[in-house]
This record gives sequence, C-alpha cells and structure tokens, in this order.
Amino acid sequence: MASKGTENNEMLTVTDNRTGETYEIPIHEGDVLSAMDLRQIKVEDDDFGMMSYDPAFKNTASTRSTITYIDGSNGILEYRGYPIEQLAERASFLEVAYLILRGSLPHQSGLDQWVHDITFHTYVHENITKLLDGFRYDAHAMGMVISAVAALSTFYPEAKNVEDPEARWFQIQRLVAKMPTLAAFAYRHHRGLPYVYPENELSYTANFLNMLFRIGVKEYKPNPVLERALDVLFILHADHEQNCSTTAMRVIGSSQADPYTAVAGAMGALYGPLHGGANEAVLRMLKRIGSTDNIPDFIERVKNREERLMGFGHRVYKAYDPRAKIIKRTADEVFEVTGRNPLLDIALELEKIALNEEYFVERNLYPNVDFYSGIIYQAMGFPVEMFPVLFAIPRTVGWLAQWQEMLEDPEQRIARPRQVYTGEKRREFDPIEDRG
Ligand code: ACO
Repeated sequence: MASKGTENNEMLTVTDNRTGETYEIPIHEGDVLSAMDLRQIKVEDDDFGMMSYDPAFKNTASTRSTITYIDGSNGILEYRGYPIEQLAERASFLEVAYLILRGSLPHQSGLDQWVHDITFHTYVHENITKLLDGFRYDAHAMGMVISAVAALSTFYPEAKNVEDPEARWFQIQRLVAKMPTLAAFAYRHHRGLPYVYPENELSYTANFLNMLFRIGVKEYKPNPVLERALDVLFILHADHEQNCSTTAMRVIGSSQADPYTAVAGAMGALYGPLHGGANEAVLRMLKRIGSTDNIPDFIERVKNREERLMGFGHRVYKAYDPRAKIIKRTADEVFEVTGRNPLLDIALELEKIALNEEYFVERNLYPNVDFYSGIIYQAMGFPVEMFPVLFAIPRTVGWLAQWQEMLEDPEQRIARPRQVYTGEKRREFDPIEDRG
C-alpha cells in the first residue's frame, strides 16, 4: 500500500500490528514527507485514519521556510544563509530587515530607497496618541503597543488585501516604520512626558532613542555606541523561525486577517514570560536574588523546581545560544559608556555556577538571548516594562517575512490542528430537576 514516492525513493516501512498491514511512508530530506500519509493507516475502512499526537509541536514541522536556519546542537543561527555573527558585526538593522524580507542583501541604491521608505512612514495618525492617552499612567507598555498596532488596522482598510503583493509590501513598510514610534509614544505616556515626533534624518535606532529620551533640547544626539548597540540587539532579535509568536503570526495570517491584527496577536504570544517576556523576568529575578551570596540558595530552589532560571534553556538550542555570545560582547561596549550594571556580576556568577551544575548540564540548559539583553537595556535607561517591546520592534520584521512566505506558499491553508478527544461519550440531556 505505497503512496507517492520521493525523488530518491526513500521510504519508511511501517507495520501495523493490529492488522498485520504494511505501509510505505515517503521520506523527504530525512523527514516523513507528509503527516497526511499516516491517514491511510486504518483498522476498518471507515476509520478516520491515524494522526500523530504532538502537544506543543515538539516534533512537527508546520512549514518549509527559506528565511532562518538554526542548528540548535551546534549553536548556529543564519538569516537567509548569512551567519548571525557576520550580520551583527557588519550590517545595519535595516539592511538585515531588507535581507530577511526580500531574501538577499540590498545594493547601495536599494538600501537607500528602503531606508527612505521606512523613514517616510514613521508618523502615526494623531488619533493613535488619543488612543494611548486613554491608558492609565501605569499601563504596561506591551499592552499599550499591542492595542495601538491592532488599532492601526482600522486606519488602513486596504490592508485586508492580503493577496495583493503591492498592498502587502506597503503594510510591511508601515509596520516596520511605525513600531518604534508606537513604542516610544507608549513609553512617553508612561512617563507623563509629551510625545516626541519622528525626525526623519536620523537612523532607525537614533530616531527611536530621540523619540524616547529627548527632553528640553531642540536636537538630540544619541551616543553612537548606544545607537549601534541597539542596532545590534535589533539584528539579533529580527527572526528566529517557527517560535511561539511566529507560529501565532502564521496561524492568524492563515485566516487572511490583515497584518496589523496578526502582528498584534503575535505580540500577545511574545508577551509571555516563557518567550519575549523572559528578558523582563530575568531582570526581576536578578533583582530578587540581590547579591552573589544568594546564588547557591537560588540554584537549589531551581533544582527543587520551586523556581525557574529565567533566561536559561531553549526549545531549539541545546548549546550556547549564539545571540547570547554576541550580546555579552555588546554589554561590555555599552557599560564603557553607561557604567557597569551591578546586576551583571550576579548574572555572570549565576551563569558560571549553573553551567557547572549537573541539573543544567544534563538538560543542556545554557543562557539564551534574553539572559543578558535586559541588563543592557536597563543600563541604557529603559524601564523593564519596555523590554518585551524592544523585542517586538525588530521581531516585527521576522513576523512579516514569515507571514508573506506563508501567504505565497501553495501548500499552506488555514491553520487547523486536530485533537484527540478524551471527553465524555455521547449521553442524553437530563432535565434540571432529574440531575443528582
Ligand atoms: N530553569 C530550570 N529548569 C529548566 C529551565 C529553566 N530555565 N528550562 C528548562 N528546564 C528543565 C525543565 O524543567 C525540564 O526538566 P525535566 O525534564 O526534569 O522536566 C527540562 O529542563 C526540559 O525543559 P522543557 O520545559 O521541556 O523545555 P521546553 O523546550 O519546553 O522549554 C523554555 C523551553 C520555555 C525556553 C524553557 O527552557 C524555559 O522556561 N526557560 C526560561 C524562560 C526563558 O528564558 N524563555 C526565553 C526563551 S528564548 C525566547 O523565547 C526568545
């Protein structure tokens, strides 16, 4: 009972011991070609057919993708084939954004045009400021930005034309351009400060820093080291293949919702402490630990499962996260300017102890991207509530690239997983007076 073969005819032979029936399941590039091939496995002809059960998608590929390559065992991360180390060293964030969205690095004229187009779309409709004004002074920045991004969908009804590549590209530019503005406005609202409007002659990150931190001066000149450090952090966070928020983006986008609504949903997934909220959770954890003397006791509590060591562990990396290595170097450069963040000593000691503890070694738990990023953000003057927002700004690029790829992929349909029903068998309705 063979189904269609693959190019080199690699097959998995499966014997169903319930029926004695043997099936040939095609393999493609080392994986089962299609989970749908399992459906032919039945006991009775009218059975639904076999599914695979995979809570949290631990071993299920939901797409083919050409955007980001990760080798989790060897700590390798590449965007469109370029190693993250080279991009972080030599490219600007907008150059990397172009690469991720378009598939190849731009020539100078292409980059100039892209930078111009992004700069041109940084302003938001004035009503967005009214929306933000409606939030309480202590509203979390992530909640404000999620709402503002969702609200943008109402300003651009043409964004619903998700099948039109030109309309899509226009929304992509708007989203990449406006995210820093929304983030900065949320921060200014929180601080009770007047909004600072975008300055189009500044770089992407300099403009962001200007909108955040300019007070009482006509011109704001961000420190070039901090401007570059933020650019590098944005490069490191730009995409990370099919993680929780990217999957949310693809799932929402698969119903053909507009990209503003889908990005708002992806941001919701990012907000949780196990994902993009981890950098905020790391900072709160380090503050709680308070001093290096308290680390052994904290580690004991982690081993006893009373605590989780935030910023450690990763679904995909079972080696040192390559982004964490680059961030550690960036931290040194930033602290030259800002002075050393005292939490760094706690983090370094925590890492040293954890990497030598059996609990972490046998589970392959290493620092991830968020272990050190929060310490840098704090040194740069960001409050912890801004940390997940600082993740969402660059990740918007990855979400949009993945969204576009999903829409152009003829194999994709509306996302709709199956379930294994474990509830009650069919039963008759009891009138309320008969219920025991
Ligand atoms: N602290 C303590 N134990 C941990 C940690 C941690 N940070 N991470 C994993 N473990 C343990 C688990 O308890 C489990 O132990 P067990 O097998 O004895 O039950 C084992 O290591 C495997 O972990 P899982 O939870 O199965 O790994 P999973 O792939 O589901 O989770 C995750 C990955 C969510 C990142 C996890 O490591 C974690 O919670 N880390 C802390 C939060 C964090 O830093 N998140 C940011 C990730 S990077 C990002 O999203 C940008």
